Amino acid sequence: MGKQASVLHNHPSLLFLLLLLFEAATVGRGARLNHWESGIRLPSEKDEPREVDDEEVGTRWAVLVAGSSGFGNYRHQADVCHAYQLLRKGGLKEDNIIVFMYDDIATNELNPRPGIIINHPQGDDVYAGVPKDYTGEHVTAANLYAVLLGNTGALSGGSGKVVDSKPNDRIFIYYSDHGGPGVLGMPNMPMLYAKDFLDVLKKKHAAGSYREMVIYVEACESGSIFEGIMPTDLNIYVTTASNAQESSWGSYCPGMDLPPPPEFITCLGDLYSVAWMEDSETHNLKRETVEQQYETVRERTSNSNAYAIGGSHVMEYGNTSIKAEKLYLYQGFDPATVNFPPNELSHDTHMEAINQRDADVLFLWHMYKNSEDGSKKKEILTQITETMRHRIHLDGSIDLIGTLLYGPAKGSVVLDAIRELGSPLVDDWQCLKSMVRVFETHCGSLTQYGMKHMRAFANICNSGVSQSSMEEACVAACSSDHHHPRKWHPSNHGYSA
Ligand SMILES: *[C@@H]1O[C@H](CO)[C@@H](O)[C@H](O)[C@H]1NC(C)=O
Repeated sequence: MGKQASVLHNHPSLLFLLLLLFEAATVGRGARLNHWESGIRLPSEKDEPREVDDEEVGTRWAVLVAGSSGFGNYRHQADVCHAYQLLRKGGLKEDNIIVFMYDDIATNELNPRPGIIINHPQGDDVYAGVPKDYTGEHVTAANLYAVLLGNTGALSGGSGKVVDSKPNDRIFIYYSDHGGPGVLGMPNMPMLYAKDFLDVLKKKHAAGSYREMVIYVEACESGSIFEGIMPTDLNIYVTTASNAQESSWGSYCPGMDLPPPPEFITCLGDLYSVAWMEDSETHNLKRETVEQQYETVRERTSNSNAYAIGGSHVMEYGNTSIKAEKLYLYQGFDPATVNFPPNELSHDTHMEAINQRDADVLFLWHMYKNSEDGSKKKEILTQITETMRHRIHLDGSIDLIGTLLYGPAKGSVVLDAIRELGSPLVDDWQCLKSMVRVFETHCGSLTQYGMKHMRAFANICNSGVSQSSMEEACVAACSSDHHHPRKWHPSNHGYSA
């Protein structure tokens, strides 16, 4: 057993240190946000926009993706189910909404409300009726690409539903999960790589099979998926929860303000995601523009500019002319909202949030606290120490590889370097994938947490290191390191690249 491992075993008080960390993340209590009560009706307004009929040609399509699995990630699937209900209320047809979700939440033994998923502390069930298009092992990046391209021949499993769109159609894509520089998580490996996703969008555009597209992405470092590589001439407008180098945040988490109902030990939503959905539900989308939503969501996701402790910079990419359009062209229109305002002034409020990457540990910790003494409690403690140990192992290996490649003075400088705004994360995306595979072969799976090191691999490529030098460094850094148990070997769950 390695040194770090025994440190954790001999000092369970490290757990309390962990707790302190969470406490630190929750300072700055501000006024409570309660969007649930914000749907104030204005006097009836009849002047519907005149251009409605010209604009409203074609079909609205939506693709919704929850990129994670496991009860600790409840919030991502809750976000996606909520989005489905919202779009259905807006009049989109089930045939035109394609849902990717692992579907292990509603029936999870840890779910205090069996068969039900909520996305707000006082929220109703959002699970009932959500189609099981691509669930379990079929939630893959390859299936997502096939669905977007309408390529039924390339599908593996699932309902077979694809975006069979025509030149006048509009497409809305919404994704929620963990991410890292240049990648988005998927519950089945490999991850989604920015370049592959962009290639799919370009292909779809070249096929002339849509009019315009709006994409919302919630993930850590989600800006890096588009930064420097998203063209403006694809008729696509994108917003992301965070810029290319910061975390995105979970919300409605246990012990935070607002907390979920007490029986929940997991976060119910994510900051940017609930911001756009709660905005859509409280406004007349025939009157609100895409831009107005962007501004509102940007304001709320910044969390009163509390970037370091629970807020992020919402970013936009692609063709920004599309922002002038009304939201209903993508999200539909719920007749019940006809008297709602087009938009309202932003709230200067703070909502507590947790870094996506700490949310997993918070979940384990609440599970630990809640369980009866005995073998179950011990098992969870083992899980926490193993998780922390693997994180320390990953961070340490990357540090050491940097030192081996560039020397002690320059290692972390090179690996952590952030390119100037507007530059892509990496020039050679194939190189990025190769480096990830080499690392995982010798040092074990990156896991959800290790995605944050994607920038280090990108910078190794950008500095021109060869694959064989990388291999040498990985072998040196990890072969004598015995505290990454078999369970972290990529042969178990596949390589991330
Ligand atoms: C951006 O979208 C607008 C509105 O659809 C369109 O008129 C314009 O040509 C697009 N710009 C580019 C660079 O494609």
